[in-house]
Amino acid sequence: MLWQPSELLYVMSYFLSVNTSTRGEDSWSNKVQAEFEREFSARHSGVAIKRRFAGDIPHLDFAAQKAGRIPVERQSPDDVAAFALASELTDELIGASALVIATPMYNWGPPSSLKAWIDRIVNVKTFYQQTGALADLPVTVIIASGGLYSEGENMKHDFLRPLLDEVFTRIGVQDIMFVNCDPAGPLDRVPGALDAPGNAYAKALSQVPAAATRIR
Ligand SMILES: Cc1cc2nc3c(=O)[nH]c(=O)nc-3n(C[C@H](O)[C@H](O)[C@H](O)COP(=O)(O)O)c2cc1C
Repeated sequence: MLWQPSELLYVMSYFLSVNTSTRGEDSWSNKVQAEFEREFSARHSGVAIKRRFAGDIPHLDFAAQKAGRIPVERQSPDDVAAFALASELTDELIGASALVIATPMYNWGPPSSLKAWIDRIVNVKTFYQQTGALADLPVTVIIASGGLYSEGENMKHDFLRPLLDEVFTRIGVQDIMFVNCDPAGPLDRVPGALDAPGNAYAKALSQVPAAATRIR
């Protein structure tokens, strides 16, 4: 059977959209991510969106961590089995034409679910062999936090952006951009805060077009 060009494009190219908030439609990071996906799709109509909820990823156990350091061709059958989920998530990342992550800040850093995803995708395929597989991957990270951490006095307490910056740089990403939805606390607590000038959601939405248009 012959592939039609549009089907080929669909198979070959997808946009990976990872989210972590468990608050569903109440989540500010999820809402901004939906807007980002809309903006992206308007510009890249042939590119499918593949979604991944990090909350479904179990924490890394020792067998998986050990297997992830062994070159694939030297892995034993037990290593292959232990590495299977990490391998799937890593291939999914390497195969993507762009990545967006939407995440809350939890206790000054990432939710443990996002850390579980990170612990799976940093491995022999991305880091230990310095593969360069992610050199062309644009990464956008949408962050919602109760307080204001993307600017001002609290920046020194922000361990989430520096961690993500370090992780992605170490695995060879060269283009990482943050979209900041903060302070999101008032949006949940203060009646009418969503209509206030300069509110966190409006601020984040104003950053979306520039983040989406930089992706070719
Ligand atoms: C366990 C937990 C820890 C949190 N830690 C922080 C924090 O360190 N700093 C902060 O500004 N907000 C913190 N928050 C607030 C969330 O970042 C905020 O509610 C955010 O909007 C959640 O993202 P979401 O709206 O996408 O679900 C925390 C919330 C929870 C549930």
